Amino acid sequence: IDELLAEGVKGKRVFVRADLNVPLAEGTITDDGRIRAVQPTIAKLAEAGARVIVASHLGRPKGAGVEPAFSLAPAATRLGELLGADVAFATDTVGSSAKETVAALADGQVAVIENLRFNAGETSKDDAERGAFADQLAELADIYVGDGFGAVHRKHASVFDLPARLPQAAGYLIATEVGVLKKLTAEVERPYVVVLGGAKVSDKLAVIDELLGKADRILIGGGMAYTFLYAKGYEVGISLLQKDQVEVVKEYMKRAEETGVELVLPVDVLVSAEFPDLKGKTPADFTVVDADKIPADKEGLDIGPKTRELYASKIADAKTVFWNGPVGVFEHPDYAGGTTAVAQALLDSSAFTVVGGGDSAAAVRILGFDENAFGHISTGGGASLEYLEGKTLPGLAALEG
Ligand code: 3PG
Repeated sequence: IDELLAEGVKGKRVFVRADLNVPLAEGTITDDGRIRAVQPTIAKLAEAGARVIVASHLGRPKGAGVEPAFSLAPAATRLGELLGADVAFATDTVGSSAKETVAALADGQVAVIENLRFNAGETSKDDAERGAFADQLAELADIYVGDGFGAVHRKHASVFDLPARLPQAAGYLIATEVGVLKKLTAEVERPYVVVLGGAKVSDKLAVIDELLGKADRILIGGGMAYTFLYAKGYEVGISLLQKDQVEVVKEYMKRAEETGVELVLPVDVLVSAEFPDLKGKTPADFTVVDADKIPADKEGLDIGPKTRELYASKIADAKTVFWNGPVGVFEHPDYAGGTTAVAQALLDSSAFTVVGGGDSAAAVRILGFDENAFGHISTGGGASLEYLEGKTLPGLAALEG
């Protein structure tokens, strides 16, 4: 992008593909980290006199027109507040509102267009359909800047097809994210400890596969831990369990033993007969049990106190830590203790710490931690995992090509 700025962008229509896919609760943004992360690129372009068109997806709408619950309007408002400037908003993506909004932009002004996924062409698996949508998007702009790191693993029209149709560059956020993650794929300082949480083990299998040859310790938490505990032979009650992944998990546990990678599982958990009330946050009714004593009618919702201590001790001497995924249902205060303990352990260590993933990044901020105290907080969940897996990411390949 610096080259682009040096060439001059005054009066040029610059399409910035951002990832403004922020968590919302009844129309209110609960964590604006992704908007703040792309702000430097937008601000720099606007300062240089570009007419900036910001585009993103939000959530997973059906792709058949506007769905108010997935509108980018709250994100546009927040971006305006952060920039301290009026940000125009188009109520469609390539229709008359977008065309008029872009045509009305003065040099240095910013507009946000509506959720790209309101058009089926954005996410289509059909190259021609995606290409046709990218053609329409290309008409809005003169230059493309890719800065939506959280979406670079998606082969979507605005991520993959559009940059092939316009002069293009990567923004500051993508440059920073790739710079940090590249370090983790090269020779890392050891011990290298990885903490993996989140709901589904199936989302993490490929990265575990890769990390078994790279990390010194892998600590498992969150919903995915129960598939591991089950694979170990424990009963897990009504906890999240992906039975179809048990065999793969067993084979990973065996490989970890063979390769000397320490695979650490919860030794105690917080269990309850019901999922907590995330809206009203009424106190939860839970008990602490050892991981091999989960009652048949209960589900595990957070790692227990012994596990928190154990994980903290496994993180204490680390020189590099990568953390992806909350280890409990942190959205409820009674089940936030495990995720808080992991975040604190990262801060207490002298390691270079990378927090990856929309959820864990939002968690550290929502739980009140100073994000600047971590080495790097990635805006990409799936994207950072796929980068570490060594996959070619369509949105990065498109910017290199
Ligand atoms: C994310 O939240 O990981 C990115 O914004 C990508 O969203 P997606 O998983 O819906 O493609």
